[in-house]
Amino acid sequence: MARVTVQFTCTDCGTASPRWFGKCPGCGAFGTLVEELRGDDGGAPPARARTPVPLGEVSVDEAERISTGVAELDRVLGGGLVPASLVLVGGEPGVGKSTLLLSALGAVARGGRRALLVTGEESVAQVSLRAARLGGAETVGILAETELETVCLTLEQERPDVCVIDSVQTLHALELSSAPGSVAQVREATGRLLRVSKESGVATILVGHVTKDGAVAGPRVLEHLVDCVLQFEGDRYLAHRVLRATKNRFGSTNELGVFEMTGAGLVGVPEPSELFGSTHPGEVGAAVGCVLEGTRPLLLEVQALVAPSDLAMPRRVATGVDPRRLAMIVAVLGRHAGLALATADVFVNVAGGVRIEEPGADLAVALAIASAARGMPVLEGAAAFGEIGLTGRLRPASQADRRLDECGKFGIATVIAPEGTAPRPRPRVLAAETLRAAVRAGLAEHPAATGDAAAAA
Ligand SMILES: Nc1ncnc2c1ncn2[C@@H]1O[C@H](COP(=O)(O)OP(=O)(O)OP(=O)(O)O)[C@@H](O)[C@H]1O
Ligand SMILES: [Mg+2]
Repeated sequence: MARVTVQFTCTDCGTASPRWFGKCPGCGAFGTLVEELRGDDGGAPPARARTPVPLGEVSVDEAERISTGVAELDRVLGGGLVPASLVLVGGEPGVGKSTLLLSALGAVARGGRRALLVTGEESVAQVSLRAARLGGAETVGILAETELETVCLTLEQERPDVCVIDSVQTLHALELSSAPGSVAQVREATGRLLRVSKESGVATILVGHVTKDGAVAGPRVLEHLVDCVLQFEGDRYLAHRVLRATKNRFGSTNELGVFEMTGAGLVGVPEPSELFGSTHPGEVGAAVGCVLEGTRPLLLEVQALVAPSDLAMPRRVATGVDPRRLAMIVAVLGRHAGLALATADVFVNVAGGVRIEEPGADLAVALAIASAARGMPVLEGAAAFGEIGLTGRLRPASQADRRLDECGKFGIATVIAPEGTAPRPRPRVLAAETLRAAVRAGLAEHPAATGDAAAAA
């Protein structure tokens, strides 16, 4: 029988010590020692050298992905759950993690696979209430348990195809004295579940809480261990939620899933462009951008407000856009497009609680701000994409064709895009070389045919 001892290891330098210190005896860092278990395998056979195999000779039985029945979740996972993989789903409290995963388990069970839900947060009765509301989850097995060893033994014995652990922060290993949810406990739980899921072939989904600064379960301890990290975002008070992968060993990390919270659970929104990508005709301070999330083009409404400010340092407030990106766009607008914003507060918001990271959205943000500052609406039925350079020149955006296709699909008549974007009849492309030209072309009072922006119809 292996003897298990507890030791304290520095997360920075790895120094191990039998007792806890506030200051690491190895590197002198403060507060870095965490408790962990060390198995003392007295009877283990001695290690021996092994012969590597050429990769080409490795036989793979191309494991079929398990569909979760939730199309948007499958898309973010890269086409379904990979058997025996470990997925971490993070998100703020109440965003809908338990709801989404219970629907997924229900669909897995209906598809004839075995699904197990280990709940540490809610009682069996609470989960069954939710299951009754969502419907279709009658055959999902449920286990209310927080003791790690029991959970692992159950998984080894039951070998379900998919198991959801809600949440990893509630699991605790009896050998560790630290409280459930501490770094030591969470790391131990994930490490052991990783081994069990690989050995027993259980696709395991861990629910993780997000800390104040947005990291999953403390200082990113889990993200290296698991195969996939999914972030569930969105304002708890808005109906729309966005699921994205921040790490995926089996697929793209840029895919995006959009959901709407309804009484019957989270419903996927297959065409988010239709939902987010429109402005009210004639509205000042709103522009439609065509951004690319992974392989998915998405039309989004960007809104801006420019208001006079008494502050020495006027506010630049961004929701859904990187604040540094916003500061840069405001500066370029001031310097290269003749828009004086130095004494104005600028607020920018992206519709639907979506966060845009792609630089292709720059031009839409700039147009919304320019429209707000000049008090003129953006051309009716127009969308924009393109990256803004510090010199005021527009850089071509990647995959312009896909974006134009998306615009065409949703009835956009005109697209303001960087020079070099291939012209097409529908939507009409207004190619602009500089930000100044794009602003001139994009605001309604200056119809298309200005000097720099040639209407290529
Ligand atoms: N009857 C209902 N109709 C509509 N929405 C509901 C209903 N019941 C719950 N919700 C929504 O479900 C959300 C809670 O979902 P869920 O319990 O799945 O979140 P969670 O991410 O698991 O939260 P936690 O981190 O607290 O476990 C609530 O914010 C609420 O918006
Ligand atoms: Mg929950």
